[in-house]
Order: sequence, then C-alpha cells, then structure tokens
Amino acid sequence: MPSGSPDGIDQYGIVGHPVAHSRSPFIHGLFARQSGERMAYRLFDVSPDDFVTVVTGFFAGGGCGLNVTVPHKPAAAAFAHTLTARAEQARAVNTLAAQPDGSILGDNTDGAGLVQDLTRNLGIPVAGRRVLILGAGGATRGIVAPLLELGPEVLAIANRTADRARVVAASFADVGPVAGCGFAQIEERPWDLVLNATAASLGGSRPEITPAVIGANTICYDLAYGQELTPFLRWALDAGAAGAHLGWGMLVEQAAESFHLWRGIRPDTKPVLEVLKAA
Ligand code: ATR
Repeated sequence: MPSGSPDGIDQYGIVGHPVAHSRSPFIHGLFARQSGERMAYRLFDVSPDDFVTVVTGFFAGGGCGLNVTVPHKPAAAAFAHTLTARAEQARAVNTLAAQPDGSILGDNTDGAGLVQDLTRNLGIPVAGRRVLILGAGGATRGIVAPLLELGPEVLAIANRTADRARVVAASFADVGPVAGCGFAQIEERPWDLVLNATAASLGGSRPEITPAVIGANTICYDLAYGQELTPFLRWALDAGAAGAHLGWGMLVEQAAESFHLWRGIRPDTKPVLEVLKAA
C-alpha cells in the first residue's frame, strides 16, 4: 500500500537503461487519472553500476514503487527482500513495491500481462493447444509458468542457442509439459500459437525458423510493440498465419497488474490500450 511522501504525492517510476522510450509513465498517468489516485510516475535512466544506489535512495526517500525494465530485471530480483512465487520462478522482477514494514517486495507481472491479453482481450485459447515460444532469455522466463498454468497440450521453447532453451525448459518441468530445443529441431507442422520472445524484433530482424510451423489456423504474437508489425509478424502473415498481434496488450496489462499491486485498484485497460494503439 502507498506509504506517502513529504509533498503528499506518492512517488513511482520506471528504472531502465535506456528508458526514454518507455510508455509506462503515459500508461500509469492514465490509470491514475482514471482512478483518481494521487501519484507521480517518473523515468529513471540508471546504469547497471548505479542500480542498487539509485533504487535504495528512491525507497529511503519515501518512494512507493518502481517498475524495472531491461537490463535490470535480474538485479531487481536480487535487490528485493521478498519475491512473489511468479517472480521467483522467473528469476526476474519488473515491479518493486514498498511494504508497510519497510521491506521491498519484488513481483513479475509480465506473464500475467501476456495471459490477460491473450485470454481476455484477444480471446486466444491456450488450454489443450500446442504453443511454441521463440527465445530463451529473460522475456521467456517471465511467461513460461503463467502459460503452462493455462493447460496447453505442449509448450516448446526454441532458441537460436539450443542449450539455453533446454536449461530454461528444465527449470519449469515441474509446472507442466515443456521442452526446449534449437530452431532446427522445431517440430515441422503447424503450431496453434507461436510467440516471439526473442530480442530480434528490437534489432529489426526475425528468428530464422521454418515456415512449416505456420498453418492456416496459427496465431502469432510478438512480445515487442511498435507502430508497425515486426519482421516476425510480417513473415508469419506471408507464411499464411491466421492472426498477428503486437505486444501492446501485454504492455498495458502488465502495467495494470503493477498498479493493482501498488494501489489495490485494478484499472480499466481497454481505453488505455485504444489510445496507445491509435497514437
Ligand atoms: P530478454 O530479456 O529480452 O529476453 P536476453 O535475456 O538477452 O533478453 O535474451 C535474448 C533472446 O533473444 C535470446 O533467446 C537470444 O537468443 P540466444 O540465446 O541464441 O542469444 C534471442 N535473440 C536475440 N537476437 C536474435 C535473433 N536475431 N534471432 C534469434 N534469436 C535472437
């Protein structure tokens, strides 16, 4: 719950490097206006060397909560005094919250944000489906357990570096049916849902996988977002995919989860998502 600050406005923000491009101040600003909450939300561009000093100072000064983005999510997990189960599983934290006893709680709302977007906003079924995740980095770690909890028939993690995918899959083996492999070993038949969690979109490229994974009923989702389709989504549509979705909904839904943790209020994400997509 909010602890308050000397000027009566509860302080929040996002820590990243770089972070100038972040839409989080805009999103949380709309959530605050919508719910009538008195809060400020600022950008903190912090290098890895300064992360602990800046975040410690923020909370010592009465700050209530922080979002954490690339490259600080693992450092935030180490910084938090306690972790939610989902943050522990992901070994990455995107939300820090000051607790009444002065301790700092670390949570990871990325997976819940994706699941909300898939199931509630887009109506994409996961239960009983064959789901393929591309990439085995931090973004993947955040979404594997929440996806497995939806009961897919199988969840495959395929990565350019095969061993990394196998290690990530092994660490979630007790949660559900998950296996890791390299791009060359992906089962060559259409999958129901293909999620791009690689960093390729950020560099303007796409994971080099076989088009055999795309069929007339395959839905593709890129965790990245922007004003245009990513190379992966363009490629998927060219290969005949039934649908292609950018990660705008995941972005807004993970923010709503953070807002709920901080303020105890669940914002209405629909109007915020509409504004962002139209901008
Ligand atoms: P993040 O936190 O965004 O997941 P990360 O932990 O650095 O970042 O992981 C980046 C992921 O994107 C990795 O799975 C990486 O593959 P490798 O493990 O083989 O490096 C993947 N990746 C990055 N650029 C890629 C590209 N051009 N094609 C395919 N995969 C790519």
